[in-house]
Amino acid sequence: MEKREFNKPGPLTVLWLWIEKIINGVTTSEYNPFYYLGAVSIFFLWVILVSGIYLFLFYSITARGAYDSVQYLTVNQWYLGGVMRSMHRYASDGLIITMLLHAARCFALDRYKHWRWVAWVSGIVMAWIIWIGGIFGYWMVWDEKAKLVASLSARLIESLPIFGLPLSLNFVRLENLTDQLFYIVLFIHFNSIFFLFILILIHIMRVTKSVINPPKTMAYGLLIMLLILSLLKPATSAPPAELKGLTQAVPFDWFYMTIFPFLKVVSERTLWVFIVSLTLIAGAVPWLTRTRRHPAAHLTLENCTGCELCMEDCPYQAIQMRKRTDGMPYQLEAVISDKRCASCGICVGACDYRAINLPDITEDSVKAEIRRLAGELKESAHDKRVMVFVCAKGARLDGMLDGKGGLKGFEWARVVPVPCIGMVQPSMLAIPFEKNLGLDGVYVAGCRHGDCDFRRGSEWFAARLSGARPPVVKRSIDRNSVRFASLSAVEQEEFFSDLIEFHASLKGRSPL
Ligand code: HEM
Repeated sequence: MEKREFNKPGPLTVLWLWIEKIINGVTTSEYNPFYYLGAVSIFFLWVILVSGIYLFLFYSITARGAYDSVQYLTVNQWYLGGVMRSMHRYASDGLIITMLLHAARCFALDRYKHWRWVAWVSGIVMAWIIWIGGIFGYWMVWDEKAKLVASLSARLIESLPIFGLPLSLNFVRLENLTDQLFYIVLFIHFNSIFFLFILILIHIMRVTKSVINPPKTMAYGLLIMLLILSLLKPATSAPPAELKGLTQAVPFDWFYMTIFPFLKVVSERTLWVFIVSLTLIAGAVPWLTRTRRHPAAHLTLENCTGCELCMEDCPYQAIQMRKRTDGMPYQLEAVISDKRCASCGICVGACDYRAINLPDITEDSVKAEIRRLAGELKESAHDKRVMVFVCAKGARLDGMLDGKGGLKGFEWARVVPVPCIGMVQPSMLAIPFEKNLGLDGVYVAGCRHGDCDFRRGSEWFAARLSGARPPVVKRSIDRNSVRFASLSAVEQEEFFSDLIEFHASLKGRSPL
């Protein structure tokens, strides 16, 4: 059987996984916010939308009334309007943090190439829309900070050779400052969020059953945090924009004003060149760092019953169903998109009919390997013998494998690596327990809950084992003889201690 090598994770991946491991120790992996960064970003967007609608109801879209209308909310209606304003501000700041962490995580964990490029590129577009939307949000208050932001962003916009009259002329005299400008600013600011929701649909269009909501407890926790922050440190305005004088010193916003200080040292055009280059390079990262891709899954149509389970389980929408084309008495047949296929093998695990295979690791080759290794163990003199299934992205066994399926120092165990634990089909799991082989236990090590490299492989396997998701693991298999562990690539120690503990439990003893 061909094997997917255990690629050694780079230092960045290891560092990131260690941070997540520490957080898991506090929150458990079920509530680790790092596993929900995309979903938390969407949560912040909802808060921004709802609070934004409330603010809009009271906002005066005029050059002379804008500041007072925001002041009214902040001071006179502090208990609701003020809280809404603060929630709007802090959720926008939170969005920048979670979005940057989410992008950094995808990069650090090498989850941005090949079939993920649509999410990566659309993510970069979203980052810009969020930033532009935020900048225009500051304009709307029309205080001294707004004046500063407006004049700096106007300088940037004017330097593009597409505008006739300089935009900053608007801010020189009050009579130039038209209500029309405020309509345009409001239009851009308000619509940026709708545009974002459309972009999110593109962002996740190749992601099956994407996680778009954080767990309820996390959502309530975030809401309470926003509320407490809003009451303790309400968002306020600077003094009203004074067009005649120089801009007064205003507090710097690290979330949305980040690029403006560069204008002190470089020209507007240089800053544009920098911004555009950075965006293009970031967008091209999936291609600049391209690695070898494994061959896509392959369908054997005559075995396909059109049951749709592979489509349901595929993490990247690489399998669609269409009307049967071969005259077999089934309504549907699966079609695989090579471009979208992650070659994870989850579809193999979902198929009870040997209709889908990975060309480099076929179902037959995995089963033959299980039989070979189980046969070897049967011949050995060990008391309790264990077959171990590991995913190539989870607990790292590189250096511990002898290249023939043996685990160095553990003569009673043999290891079958698979690209993703979701590939372990229930019939594979049953082999070691077959009468003629009669092993004592099966140990399955997948990725951390919520952090499967192929998104849902670990979850689907756990559900098949518990009988909640077809194809289910046979009831006749004693569940005390099967252990499923969720471990990340930096949890080798945990892997071995748990395996030893499992082995001891088969003997009915506690570990040595
Ligand atoms: C407001 C901003 C963003 C939101 C709301 C968001 C949301 C999401 C969501 C909900 C998912 C699906 C998670 C899952 O179910 O596995 C996702 C995946 C992804 N996002 Fe974002 N995202 C945002 C920004 C970004 C940015 C800036 C980047 C990178 C430039 C990015 C890159 C990705 C990638 C590569 C995936 C696929 C991850 C995987 O397949 O494991 N996202 N995002």
